[in-house]
Amino acid sequence: GGPKAHMSKFDGGKTIEYLKKRISRLEVVRKKLNRPLTLSEKVLYSHLDKPESQEIVRGKSYLNLRPDRVAMQDATAQMAMLQFISSGIEQVAVPSTIHCDHLIEAQTGGKDDLARAKDINKEVYDFLATASAKYGVGFWKPGSGIIHQIVLENYAFPGLLLIGTDSHTPNGGGLGGLCIGVVIGVKLTGEMSGWTSAKDVNLKLTGEMSGWTSAKDVILKVAGLLTVKGGTGAIMEYHGPGTESISCTGMGTICNMGAEIGATTSIFPFNERMRRYLNATNRKEIGDAAAHYREQLLTPDQGCQYDQLIEIDLNKLEPLINGPYTPDLMTRVSDLGETAKKNGWPLEIKVGLIGSCTNSSYEDMERSASIAQQALDHGIKAKSSFTITPGSEQVRATITRDGQAQTLSAIGGMVLANACGPCIGQWNRKDVKKGEKNTIVTSYNRNFTGRNDANPGTHCFVTSPEIVTALVLGGRLDFNPLKDSLTGSKGEKFQLQAPNGKEVPPKGYDPGEDTYQEPPKQPEKRRAVSVHVDAASNRLQLLSPFARWDKKDLVDLPVLIKIKGKCTTDHISAAGPWLKYRGHLDNISNNMFIGAINAENGEANKLKNRLTGEYQPVPDVARQYKAKGIGWVAVGDDNYGEGSSREHAALEPRHLGGRAIIVKSFARIHETNLKKQGMLPLTFNNPADYDKIQPDDTISLTGLAGLAPGKPVKAVIKHKDGKKEEISLNHSFNDQQIEWFKAGSALNRMADVFAA
Ligand code: F3S
Repeated sequence: GGPKAHMSKFDGGKTIEYLKKRISRLEVVRKKLNRPLTLSEKVLYSHLDKPESQEIVRGKSYLNLRPDRVAMQDATAQMAMLQFISSGIEQVAVPSTIHCDHLIEAQTGGKDDLARAKDINKEVYDFLATASAKYGVGFWKPGSGIIHQIVLENYAFPGLLLIGTDSHTPNGGGLGGLCIGVVIGVKLTGEMSGWTSAKDVNLKLTGEMSGWTSAKDVILKVAGLLTVKGGTGAIMEYHGPGTESISCTGMGTICNMGAEIGATTSIFPFNERMRRYLNATNRKEIGDAAAHYREQLLTPDQGCQYDQLIEIDLNKLEPLINGPYTPDLMTRVSDLGETAKKNGWPLEIKVGLIGSCTNSSYEDMERSASIAQQALDHGIKAKSSFTITPGSEQVRATITRDGQAQTLSAIGGMVLANACGPCIGQWNRKDVKKGEKNTIVTSYNRNFTGRNDANPGTHCFVTSPEIVTALVLGGRLDFNPLKDSLTGSKGEKFQLQAPNGKEVPPKGYDPGEDTYQEPPKQPEKRRAVSVHVDAASNRLQLLSPFARWDKKDLVDLPVLIKIKGKCTTDHISAAGPWLKYRGHLDNISNNMFIGAINAENGEANKLKNRLTGEYQPVPDVARQYKAKGIGWVAVGDDNYGEGSSREHAALEPRHLGGRAIIVKSFARIHETNLKKQGMLPLTFNNPADYDKIQPDDTISLTGLAGLAPGKPVKAVIKHKDGKKEEISLNHSFNDQQIEWFKAGSALNRMADVFAA
């Protein structure tokens, strides 16, 4: 065997399974496929649960995988933990962590904002802290930093398979991990099933990065080339000599923002830059072990095939800025002024915001500070407001010790809490009114309408932190930091020199305050912890497992609602003010279908209660059916459940008594979510049968005892006048998913397997 390495300093003695197990699993797959493998294939297949019996057809097969770890942010962790608790399983089966980063609002600066958040979110934090302790989850307290930075600093390693409950989980690809953002659910039990990627894209980087160009420009360029849809379902694999000129954290930035083009994830092959970062974060043994297994596990095979090839010459890459309103609208920084004038984008920059999970490494901060220092040398400050979000307590402490934080503050910067803050709209912005047209520039990843400040008039541009810093010194979009001069305090003209910064701190990282809570090691100590959920809380509610299928056909189910046209997960479970009830299924269910259009009257949230004949809001009607023990179906149009992969959109119908959703077609992730909750997602064999269903009908689904993959389900529609029509419905259940339906949910099924 080769060298061994510990997974992290937090996981007891657990070592990385680089050794025999992974290689032998891969050997099984190699024999089957008999072709060279891409890097992402190697990482995925070396995590197969049963490589011998696994069917592997790229883009088609469902893979059963054993991920190395799970990471959850605090907004999504609430429901994940509630579901896990309801399963009755004693301890999470795979190393897991929770990170408190999404609920801290930026207002007056890091210290006060954090204190306020701890107060406002006390019950959520108490719940997560106690549930973590009881079920064996590592808990990163508020103030510790942003999930993806902490994962990179502590948990990511080359060849890792990580599941995260956040769309920018792929950040860990900068350290050679295959890190996938998925919805919450059964993964805490260590099981994961996922499709093989539909597409493997090879991004070849040649040349060398220099001057003003940074890692951010690589992904801004890729987004510009591929657009927000161009990477849908793909895995982006970066290769080529150019990768050696990008720091590990820079590669993290690139992978992080791959989410903006729809990629499932992005990954870099193991290289020396990763090794340097591993050394700097006290994980030399991982670097050594990775170097040993580089060819076998951590780089693609010679001659492997990709679906698409994109080549980027870093020598020719220029600083870019993308936006407004979409991350794929790419402009060269040199052309920004002209383009902005042509498009009528407000030229004055109100606020520049640097940091976030995307761009808050030591290198980012040092490069930005090197720009700020030039302004200070000439006695000037930023013309726009300026905020700095350190990605982690470790980065905050290190840039405070080494002076970059002071330099950035000296030009007028405000250091915010180590948290998501304005990136997720946690920003109490006061400088412009709602609706007012204005411009902000950020080093974040997303710039959709209203993302940062809920103001549709805000034009948000994303670029590198060093360009943001330079732009706030000019204060306008038509200031070109690469060419234009600034005026110093004595009236002297000067030009900014290109930024510079070290990739890791020469004196090592300062860990800062200890913000980690380790779960008790002894099972009896864990058992003794009681999970804090106040029965009177309106934000948190313990869940009970969904009822098992009673082995009977579903007879005479009323149509709760027949939906006309688009029905996204937002129509099914609205966001905005409802988000604070994410941990309280019954309360959040009061938003069920309130955005969906009722085909009967063309109105939203107004439908006939068949028990009373009255027109009422959808959730009220569903509650009354539920109270009488009447299950129901919802009928929908094409691409039902598209949009964000919100699990509540599947949980709520199930909670309020829904049994089946019958539509013309489903968005795939939502269809799977429904199956996980024990619902029957069904599609019309003949889409025109949608028109046969009337709001007053009942539907019977028969032959369910014989539910089998590929076999249609028979449905009998009973009209108000007593006439019956039979139609055929399709489903996409596989054998494993049929067990979920029978058990009442995937979680119930897991609990059965654990108990067995
Ligand atoms: Fe947080 Fe924004 Fe990243 S919300 S996890 S900092 S994308």
